[in-house]
Amino acid sequence: MSRVLNKKLRKKLTTAAEAAKLIKPGTNVGMSGFTGAGYPKEVPGALASEMKAAHERGKDFQIGLFTGASTAPELDGLLAEVDGISFRTPYQSDPIMRRKINEGTAEYADIHLSHLAPMIWAGSMGKLHTAVVEVTAIKEDGLLVPSSSIGNNKTFLDRAEQIILEVNSWQSADLEGMHDIYYGTRLPPERQPVMLTHTGDRIGQRNYRVDPDKVVAVIETDAADRNTPFKPADADSKKMAGFYLEFLTHEVKRGRLPKDLLPLQSGVGNVANAVLAGLLEGPFDYLTSYTEVIQDGMVDLIDSGKMVVASATAFSLSPEYAERMNAEARRYRDKIVLRPQEISNHPEMIRRLGIIACNGMIEADIYGNVNSTHIMGSRMQNGIGGSADFTRNAFISAFVTPSIAKGGAISCIVPMVSHHDHTEHDVQVLITEQGLADLRGKSPKQRARLIIENCAHPSYRPMLREYFEHAQKVCNGMHTPHDLRQSLSWHQRFLETGTMQPA
Ligand code: COA
Repeated sequence: MSRVLNKKLRKKLTTAAEAAKLIKPGTNVGMSGFTGAGYPKEVPGALASEMKAAHERGKDFQIGLFTGASTAPELDGLLAEVDGISFRTPYQSDPIMRRKINEGTAEYADIHLSHLAPMIWAGSMGKLHTAVVEVTAIKEDGLLVPSSSIGNNKTFLDRAEQIILEVNSWQSADLEGMHDIYYGTRLPPERQPVMLTHTGDRIGQRNYRVDPDKVVAVIETDAADRNTPFKPADADSKKMAGFYLEFLTHEVKRGRLPKDLLPLQSGVGNVANAVLAGLLEGPFDYLTSYTEVIQDGMVDLIDSGKMVVASATAFSLSPEYAERMNAEARRYRDKIVLRPQEISNHPEMIRRLGIIACNGMIEADIYGNVNSTHIMGSRMQNGIGGSADFTRNAFISAFVTPSIAKGGAISCIVPMVSHHDHTEHDVQVLITEQGLADLRGKSPKQRARLIIENCAHPSYRPMLREYFEHAQKVCNGMHTPHDLRQSLSWHQRFLETGTMQPA
């Protein structure tokens, strides 16, 4: 049975090919999607075909693409492949999109995930011409049931001049009731406190509102989200998770954290999953999570009764767990809340709830500055995502990385990061498979000693010690010792010789 129940919107049912024709070259398009969840499955491919055909006729056809965060190859990949994206924001992790950005053929604005919605409202991002949003159903009264990610959809639906809806019957109808769409955000000076005081609070409504007159096309699909299979944690990830859990246990023992911890935020990936697996066997009960994405490990924690509630803006599940969520969404919907990303990543909430944040990084320097985005200072990897929304405002903010990359040719602990995303003022804990450095309340020189001894790989430790000693001499022991002629020479050496190790 069709899930398009509203009579007025039923009349707008059409094909993806027809809908794609409504998107014009040179316009800005806001598409749903956050990781591999809730992105439109049909229109991006049809739009890519339109673009390819236009390019073959010698016509330019590119758009500015806004989303929640990264999406899937069926969105970023297809549009980037045909050179259909002239401008991309706020986050991506697609290999083809990344290549276009680094070749310089697509412009990319790497924006904090909590910032994009208010920037669109303020008009700072220009006009939003079209919204293409996946929903689970259109109700009789015209309200929209959100799907497996929320991201910036509320803002796209409100601000776009025209709207294309993809109604996806692969998504469980029982997702309805899991979402909390907050319509109270205002721009300054009308901003009011957001009255969310506990992780599981619901402060908004279950559905999106939409002006039916702005809807120009409705497409039906039953295509699955793109969920990547779960990789079992490797030995290094398990070690890092172990250090992190040991640190949290220690904080509880010292009375600096409550027994049930504080709401947890975790970046995606191997280490995050290993931490979640560790929590499953760990001593903490009544856990909560206020984060960006719900991963497999959180579902396990909820099932085991260890986690009582998890709040995020999207799912990021393996195929097996996505199936389970679809089959049992009714059972999970009072334990999981999906919110707009301007709320899941809101500094006000992160500070108030006292989040414990843990994110991945590319490199850190001996003083605790972190680079999350750029390889060798210039090459964009993914983007800052929500890492700074959380890091700057968290109660405890940690970063994890293996101590070396590229088989040991690169040290992830360096004298000076080649790009700054998170400053020494925000980074409190660094973790590698070598150990953990608790940087809280330490001076730059104290931090340097800790990071070198606890986190650097043994094959780079002597070089880092030597740099630090040398830098102190060069600048007569000043506050943050650097020899600027040498600080980035490690990166330069790698670029010239393929290794940071001296010849
Ligand atoms: N120097 C150069 N290259 C490095 C490096 C370093 N110090 N550290 C890692 N790399 C390379 C890896 O070799 C790998 O290269 P490849 O793609 O050619 O194989 C690539 O960078 C990615 O490394 P990997 O270890 O697979 O990364 P990851 O999956 O653990 O992700 C980040 C690490 C930093 C890229 C990822 O966490 C990220 O994008 N963070 C920013 C956004 C974020 O934090 N989101 C969550 C917030 S809620």
